[in-house]
Amino acid sequence: MGRKIGVLTSGGDAPGMNAAVRTVVRAALHYNLEPYAIYRGYHGLINGEIEAVDSRAVSGIIQRGGTILKSARSDLFRTAEGRAQAVDMLDKHGIDSLIVIGGDGSFRGALSLEEMGVNVICIPATIDNDIACTDYSIGFDTAVNNVMEAVNKIRDTASSHERVYVVEVMGRASGYIALYSGLAGGADVILIPEVPYDLEQVCQLIEKANAMGKTYNIVMVAEGVRPISGEQGEESPSLEIGRYIQEHAGFDTRITILGHIQRGGAPTVRDRLLASRLSYHAIELVYQGKSGKMLGEVNQVVKSFDLSYVLAQEKQLNLDYYHLSNILSAI
Ligand code: F6P
Repeated sequence: MGRKIGVLTSGGDAPGMNAAVRTVVRAALHYNLEPYAIYRGYHGLINGEIEAVDSRAVSGIIQRGGTILKSARSDLFRTAEGRAQAVDMLDKHGIDSLIVIGGDGSFRGALSLEEMGVNVICIPATIDNDIACTDYSIGFDTAVNNVMEAVNKIRDTASSHERVYVVEVMGRASGYIALYSGLAGGADVILIPEVPYDLEQVCQLIEKANAMGKTYNIVMVAEGVRPISGEQGEESPSLEIGRYIQEHAGFDTRITILGHIQRGGAPTVRDRLLASRLSYHAIELVYQGKSGKMLGEVNQVVKSFDLSYVLAQEKQLNLDYYHLSNILSAI
């Protein structure tokens, strides 16, 4: 057997992480590299939760959401001492390259290890789709499909009771989940962090929709939204927005915070394919002795980018989707 490589998943889990782990392990074996599973992210790395894995260890997981490697947040890893322990643990196991499957925070951790001499290659996996240099991150497609299906169901009850439904979705500071699932789910109003919202305008939009004969409304709210004036309060934004609609526009309003259900379930075809392709190329880079890179898919082509460059970029949301939704809901 050749060089030893470790693989871990870190941060919020994302459907398709297992498909990525499966490919990392099997592609490593294909290149005659020796794969090691590292459990519970950087926390497990520091604690030495590391074991050699073979192809059968990743059988039957491509269809499963979550991550068989588990995920954890590690306060210790945020300190220089913790990171030094992580590097020692890799040395102790003779692992010279590390594959990190996760999002922004996980990649910042990976970059610190790179600066300490560890070879790292990153694979973007987060439902938030807030990583630059890739059109989509693993897990986003499944999450927006989850949200769309939930909205389909909410429509049944919203139409029966002729109510306004405010639906809050995840995404941290990114509006991707709200925008894609809002457009695909036919929401009347979509509020995203990239465009500060005005509560009076939201009420006017609902009033206008109802004057045109609509009998119920869906208002899609990203968890990271902020009002046009002032700061967003401590509570979930949907609570404040729903209350305002009820009190100021007089519509019977209900609030649904979808929460972690968005992150679960079997990954879609898109997420499985993305995970498989990015992970295969990640191992190719390891085999070539490269380090400090992230794989991304841009216009259907897999490309590698310097990790430091990726982390310095801000992922852009295509506001054409936003304008399209506004046009379609205003008629
Ligand atoms: O980053 C993924 C994500 O699901 C965000 O959309 C959300 O804000 C956060 O993780 C929730 O984190 P936790 O699982 O720690 O509650």
